[in-house]
Amino acid sequence: MTDSLFIRACFKQPTERTPVWIMRQAGRYLPQYRAVRAGHSFTDMYKTPDLATEVTLQPLDILGVDAAILFSDILVVPEAMGMELNFLEGKGPVFADPLRTEQQLKNLNAVEATRDLDFVMQAIKQIRRALGDRVPLIGFCGAPWTLATYMVEGGASRNYRHIKEWRFKRPDLLENLINRITESLIAYCRAQMDAGAQAIQIFDSWAGLLDAEGFERFALKPVKKLLAAIRRPGVPLIYFPKGGMLWLEKLNQLDADVIGLDWNVDPVEAQRITAGRFALQGNLDPTALYADPEQVRRHTLKMLAAFGDGTGHVANLGHGILPDIPVESARAFVETIQSESAAFRKTEQAG
Ligand code: CP3
Repeated sequence: MTDSLFIRACFKQPTERTPVWIMRQAGRYLPQYRAVRAGHSFTDMYKTPDLATEVTLQPLDILGVDAAILFSDILVVPEAMGMELNFLEGKGPVFADPLRTEQQLKNLNAVEATRDLDFVMQAIKQIRRALGDRVPLIGFCGAPWTLATYMVEGGASRNYRHIKEWRFKRPDLLENLINRITESLIAYCRAQMDAGAQAIQIFDSWAGLLDAEGFERFALKPVKKLLAAIRRPGVPLIYFPKGGMLWLEKLNQLDADVIGLDWNVDPVEAQRITAGRFALQGNLDPTALYADPEQVRRHTLKMLAAFGDGTGHVANLGHGILPDIPVESARAFVETIQSESAAFRKTEQAG
């Protein structure tokens, strides 16, 4: 698997074409996912290794993507730390008792990943058996800042009033919370790799909420610690700071292999600022897939062109695929990358 397109591209090694996968590729836009989901809650699905395996494999068969990603959720970690979590239909994730006091913070558990999140490790093992050496399996976690945001807000939020209050009024509490989350994530990511995860992506979905100093202190610093603690030879580490693109230059401090870009960032600029330190992943606007397949093809070609000859590019959307995207459009995206990306390498060599 170390010679798969995806792993090689993550390490900026030459590949004959650009690999592609899609964030949230196992999800409601797939009729086959909705069919499984009709009989089970989302929670049952990620806690049952058979079901998690089934839906993890669906996008490989339907879209032919070049990597699989574990079917789970970033919020299993706060849940394992003792916070009651519910996924409400039409409302998304909600914590029953948002973390608002110092006492609640003291009561959080440190995660013993192989014990508390055994269902994840069982799912990883089963998925790896089912995959054979078809494509590599990506494990993942939420970044400390993003998990802290969910825990303190209690769910999705309009103004992020509570976490922002902590950031400016009780940065000591926020730092303490983030340190505790980071410790649990270190154990969790190591356990995922022990179970068979072949790459790890850290989702920092709320990085864009922070000011520059806050980004450095509450997002970057813990991610730096996490990356250093989980580094293993041959396992690429991907950091995706959604909306954190104002701070691209600060990312140069990180020992990551791949930086995920959202669609607000120009790949040419990103390559210039990071000066070839990282492979880059992304970054088509997920709503581009509402266009017709022929238009999707054109948008995708434009994206490929922005990544130059394509070496060190892992194609993806700039955020997760949306639940009402037509499967034909997702297929057009994947198919365009797989059939057209080789030509960019030839053009550059010839030119
Ligand atoms: O990428 C994949 O296919 C792997 C699976 C995956 C899920 N969630 C499945 C899921 C991954 C990597 C995640 C990460 C995740 N979860 C993030 C980070 C990525 C991002 O989008 O920024 C976040 C913020 C969450 C929290 C979360 N979980 C939200 C906000 C929601 C509700 C949104 C929605 O689409 O309803 C979930 C639920 C969730 N996680 C679903 C799936 C497939 C939908 C469950 C369902 O109703 O079937």
